[in-house]
Amino acid sequence: MKHFLQVILVFLVIGCNQKKEPKIVITEGTTAKQSEMAALMLQMYQVNLENKGLILEGKMPNDFPKEFLNIHTAQLSDPSVRTPNFEVFSEMYINTFQQNVVSDNELAKEKHNATINSCIACHNTTCIGPIPKIKKLLIP
Ligand code: HEC
Repeated sequence: MKHFLQVILVFLVIGCNQKKEPKIVITEGTTAKQSEMAALMLQMYQVNLENKGLILEGKMPNDFPKEFLNIHTAQLSDPSVRTPNFEVFSEMYINTFQQNVVSDNELAKEKHNATINSCIACHNTTCIGPIPKIKKLLIP
């Protein structure tokens, strides 16, 4: 008689609540717990990926999504990350992103890359893990 294989899902968490080694979370059937900020970041990543595609097609990027302002309040995996410095980087990122919608495609490319560089600037100080992934959002 056959017996069921126990399926264990292993999630590699790329969040920043660990120092150096990636944390392996073993769960069954459920997804790994994710902070509000991590969820927001993944949304920001998605929209910027879309924007990159749009700009490469000669189209205009999406309007600034208002929920991205939640970067000021979203709960973090590690609340001690929210320092005055973090707030400065958040402001810089929001300001840069809000300037994204312009009429000229060449300029749109420049503004998009400035936004991605503001993501990277904050990540350099708080969360270096996802930087290689974020760099792929840059338009060469
Ligand atoms: C003000 C600082 C700051 C800015 C700006 C910022 N990030 Fe983050 N990012 C963080 C922090 C802190 C975390 C960890 C969040 C957590 O675990 O609670 C994170 C996590 C992430 C993650 C990992 C999410 C996961 O758990 O899988 C990705 C991907 C990411 N950011 C992409 C981006 C992109 C793309 C941008 C720009 C559009 C950006 N970030 C801008 C600080 C920032």
